[in-house]
Amino acid sequence: MSRLNTFASLALVLAAAHPVHAAQPAPRTPSVADVRATLAAMPRGDVRRGKELNQTLMCASCHGDDGVAPTRNWASLAGQRAAYTYKSLLDYQTGGRHENPRATLMAVAVKDMSRQDMADVAAYYASLPAVAAPAPRLDAAAHARADRLARRGDPARLLTPCASCHGAAGQGGINETPALAGQSVGSFVRTMQDYRAGRRVTDANQGMRQFAERLTAEEIRELAAYYARMGKTGR
Ligand code: HEC
Ligand code: HEC
Repeated sequence: MSRLNTFASLALVLAAAHPVHAAQPAPRTPSVADVRATLAAMPRGDVRRGKELNQTLMCASCHGDDGVAPTRNWASLAGQRAAYTYKSLLDYQTGGRHENPRATLMAVAVKDMSRQDMADVAAYYASLPAVAAPAPRLDAAAHARADRLARRGDPARLLTPCASCHGAAGQGGINETPALAGQSVGSFVRTMQDYRAGRRVTDANQGMRQFAERLTAEEIRELAAYYARMGKTGR
């Protein structure tokens, strides 16, 4: 089957999958111990095999040959930490992550993947450099606001600096904390809205939900542009 055909059939499955999406059991946020146990059982990934799977499983048709999404709307995976990619794929497969129709599409894409497959593609994306994503240019004041939230947080709102977990260069932190550098603006904003609304519940102890709830929509947009622009090279 050609890539285009696969893409079309995935879109059809997506349309058909909506009722299933609605019928899933109420999602439950994992504990820190749940996440640790998941990651402790992660197989060692093989970058070369991951690169092949990215093509044969058609991941590349949406996320790019080199993990850089072809549109600013879909998630980029280049430079993502392997633990986070692995956890996300498992979350899609087990129904833990079903925040929006796009997640349903991913659940279909990962249905037949083994844990080894997941670890291999995760190792491949982690081996690639994050690339800055197209984003609206922030004026000086907006950039300063985003930079302050990222690096200092806001004690008055009990907002921990994003950088304390996601790294000073948006490179990601320990365990499952994802890289944010080079993430597509559309994906970033949607993710934050999904956390805020309680639709996405894969964050241990609802950590991200609490932060997302305390940010305004404008702050989220500014942070998205701020992180999208980080990355090794522009494009
Ligand atoms: C038809 C398009 C499509 C295909 C094929 C596809 N994906 Fe996705 N993927 C998406 C979309 C859309 C999202 C949701 C993120 C978003 O809202 O932008 C996503 C999300 C992800 C995420 C989570 C990213 C994050 O930052 O949270 C990972 C990891 C991922 N995909 C890996 C894969 C892998 C591995 C494959 C191949 C087995 C694959 N995808 C196939 C479209 C696709
Ligand atoms: C206490 C640590 C911590 C802090 C502080 C934190 N995050 Fe997170 N963040 C995480 C973890 C862990 C995840 C992954 C949760 C999951 O698996 O759903 C995450 C996920 C995300 C995601 C989803 C990424 C993707 O590609 O799916 C975004 C976007 C994000 N955080 C943005 C932010 C921003 C912006 C801030 C600052 C306002 C922030 N985070 C503060 C730990 C943190």
